[in-house]
Amino acid sequence: MSQTPVTLEKIVSLCKRKGFVFPAADIYGGINGIYDFGHLGYLMKENIKNAWKKSIQNELGDIYFLDGSLIGPQAMWIASGHVENFHDPMIDCMNCKKRFRTDDDQIDVNKPCPSCGIKSWTDIRDFNLMFQTQLGALQDDSAKAYLRPETAQTIFVQFKNVLTTNRAKIPFGIAQIGKSFRNEITPKQFLFRMREFEQMELEWFCKDATSMETFEFWVQKRKAFYSSIGLDMSKIRMYQHPTEKLSHYSKCTIDVEYEFPFGFKELEGIAHRGTFDLTQHTKHSGKDLAIFDQETGLSEIPTVVETSVGVDRLFLTLLFDAYTEDEMDGETRVLLKLHPTIAPIKAAVLPLTKKISENAEPLYKTLKKQFTNIDFDDSGSIGKRYRRQDEIGTPICFTFDFQSLEDNMVTVRHRDSGKQERIAISNAAQYLENLLV
Ligand code: GAP
Repeated sequence: MSQTPVTLEKIVSLCKRKGFVFPAADIYGGINGIYDFGHLGYLMKENIKNAWKKSIQNELGDIYFLDGSLIGPQAMWIASGHVENFHDPMIDCMNCKKRFRTDDDQIDVNKPCPSCGIKSWTDIRDFNLMFQTQLGALQDDSAKAYLRPETAQTIFVQFKNVLTTNRAKIPFGIAQIGKSFRNEITPKQFLFRMREFEQMELEWFCKDATSMETFEFWVQKRKAFYSSIGLDMSKIRMYQHPTEKLSHYSKCTIDVEYEFPFGFKELEGIAHRGTFDLTQHTKHSGKDLAIFDQETGLSEIPTVVETSVGVDRLFLTLLFDAYTEDEMDGETRVLLKLHPTIAPIKAAVLPLTKKISENAEPLYKTLKKQFTNIDFDDSGSIGKRYRRQDEIGTPICFTFDFQSLEDNMVTVRHRDSGKQERIAISNAAQYLENLLV
């Protein structure tokens, strides 16, 4: 089997062709950096989120979930530091009006614009990435609000409510999966840098004395997560930020990086946020977010370790990692070698010909009842139907043939190897269950 390299263009094309991802408002020409997820994309995202929710369960303490609001008042974003610090340096070409991020688009102000070839730059300015909005009809400062650029802050502002209503004890975590919005100057690489995206964030509240151990615990746990969902770990590396480049809130940050075709890039950030956020919200809201420690008799603001990954960025990473082109039976095929827990469709039932479709239906119905996302396909040659399933990452197909009518057995055909084996129809559900564990 020979393999050809994966490119971004191939991933974008597969996503559209198979209905994983569409440009938002496609019939109006799309919006830069914003996408809609189709049926398969939605299912795969749900699988990613479920795997993440499982992966954060741990032996140190409990996890509580939050579904926070997307809009926050200006005061909250002043407290968090986002109004002052959450910006990227931008520059405009006065000739072609194209806008660039000077830190990321490799712009050299001494050279001409890479787009039009003319050297006519504006000064470099800071551009705040938050989407601003106005609440209600008032136009004054009190009505100013922002779409959240990270889910984390809604966790910090609800920290006391979550703590008291759940009678939580330190250490514990508050986890959230939800939308975030950033008015990126140059959204790019498809789902890599978007303007509207989903994050999976965990804020872990612990005592300062044990916080570095806890930080290391989460670094190892996040690594284990990526291995458990089948990512090629030789393409993963851990990158520690130098102190002078740390975000305004962080004492120590390690990025989980993946080797994309466009280089090693951040997949997830793990940050020791110290007491920065809760201290800021205490100061700005006037509400005390310290908690009383029975052991020491002191009131203290807990220390926070954060793990944060984008659902969409992980989705893209998994597609890059799984995309394969090889040759099978003298034909080139495209397949997604997705881990069975991530694959949107878990199995397909394929009657060999339409004549025996009805006979194959009971197996389909049984599997669908238990696993929900099961395909049934009786149109076209069996080879074509295997290719269709390979391309969307379905791990196995159950082929129902004329022999099945007599011996109550089906052929299990495996996506990656193309290998086939015969099993009893009565064992099919258990077979699939074992694959998904
Ligand atoms: N609360 C910390 C935080 O938001 P971040 O490094 O800015 O930190 C965390 O973002 C993760 O969110 C990134 O590692 C990435 O997976 C995802 N992410 C950030 N900006 C994104 C964007 N514009 N498009 C897609 N995903 C993004």
